[in-house]
Amino acid sequence: QSKVNINSLQNKKDNNQKITMLTAYDYQFAKLIDEAEIDVILVGDSLGMVVLGYDTTLEVTLDDMIYHTQAVARGRENALLVADLPFMTYKTGNIAQTVKNAGQLIKTAKAEAVKLEGGREIVDEIAAVIRAGIPVMGHLGLTPQSVHQFGGFKVQGQTDAAAEKLIADALALEEAGVFALVLECISRDLAAKVTNQLSIPVIGIGAGRSCDGQVLVVHDMLGINNQFVPKFVREYDNLGEKVKKAIKTYKQDVEQGEFPTAGESFS
Ligand code: KIV
Ligand code: NA
Repeated sequence: QSKVNINSLQNKKDNNQKITMLTAYDYQFAKLIDEAEIDVILVGDSLGMVVLGYDTTLEVTLDDMIYHTQAVARGRENALLVADLPFMTYKTGNIAQTVKNAGQLIKTAKAEAVKLEGGREIVDEIAAVIRAGIPVMGHLGLTPQSVHQFGGFKVQGQTDAAAEKLIADALALEEAGVFALVLECISRDLAAKVTNQLSIPVIGIGAGRSCDGQVLVVHDMLGINNQFVPKFVREYDNLGEKVKKAIKTYKQDVEQGEFPTAGESFS
């Protein structure tokens, strides 16, 4: 595996090769994911829910993102490293501040690209970030930073008007220069339409198999999450249960005097 960059991702779409992407929030997972030759590692603001225990992504700060992205960057070698701009670090009406915030994720945290949620309302902002030399990944559909505006986590683009709006947003993002687009929690038919209409790679989560690639939250696909698991997640293992079982066995061994043995101690 050689270094993944925005050009090699575009080549994958152009050659009909699927793109793989997973989230990571720390050094160890970054290393495992990178060694498994996943194309893109996303330090998602899902970290608020997955590793910080919040109910939504809204409380995640730029400092949280920097701290976790730095850890991931230490474990990553070849994967393209993308970091989310969290809630209230953009879309505030201050584009210069958006560029600075994106710049911190690159300069201080060692991300190679940033992801912003939203459509036509943020194309000026996205263009400014790109002009600063920072590649931008778009994100449409169920954009969790807008959860209160949606009235909950639900499938997006369900009416004809909403579907048309999403397609127009996607085309505007491509026009603004994003190198790839995440589509979250929309019908597979709508995702297929967007994927066909765009030249840039479209990466789906809960958006069917027609997308150019797929992304999942790594804790979800490993079965580490004991919270609600959406229908679009495939659990490739039940590591949560396995970890609990190992810990219970350790507890039992200690309590019964079976750990450590002579071989596990010094003479
Ligand atoms: O924060 C995140 O993990 C994400 C992915 C689900 C796309 O934005
Ligand atoms: Na996110």
